Amino acid sequence: MKKMILAALSTSMLFGATFSAQAAPAKAATCVGCHGADGNSMVPNFPKLAGQHASYLEKQMKDFRDGFRKDATMAPFAKGLTDAEIKELAEFYAAQTPK
Ligand code: HEC
Repeated sequence: MKKMILAALSTSMLFGATFSAQAAPAKAATCVGCHGADGNSMVPNFPKLAGQHASYLEKQMKDFRDGFRKDATMAPFAKGLTDAEIKELAEFYAAQTPK
């Protein structure tokens, strides 16, 4: 019994740790320089992504990728993204707290 409680405890601790450390999708590493680690950009030229609607972010990234929205700075970073990666990024940034 004691063992089971311990196992449950360490699993939840592990999950908690993995959860916070794993926060950003792999592709977000390339966005950090402009949009910040949690989507709170430091510079006004780079829009804040934190807390924006996931569906909005998803559409913007697809529009950049597919050439419907044009920006020489941003477009190259959207180019290589798959639909699944875009969805993951959109959900990640939407879940962050805007500062
Ligand atoms: C070199 C800087 C730079 C990098 C790196 C960059 N972006 Fe951007 N991003 C911009 C700029 C500048 C804009 C605003 C473009 C405009 O004015 O239309 C933008 C706009 C956006 C928008 C639209 C925001 C809005 O409010 O409409 C999204 C979403 C976005 N970026 C996501 C990303 C993601 C995801 C990555 C990484 C894969 C990334 N960006 C990497 C500079 C960057």
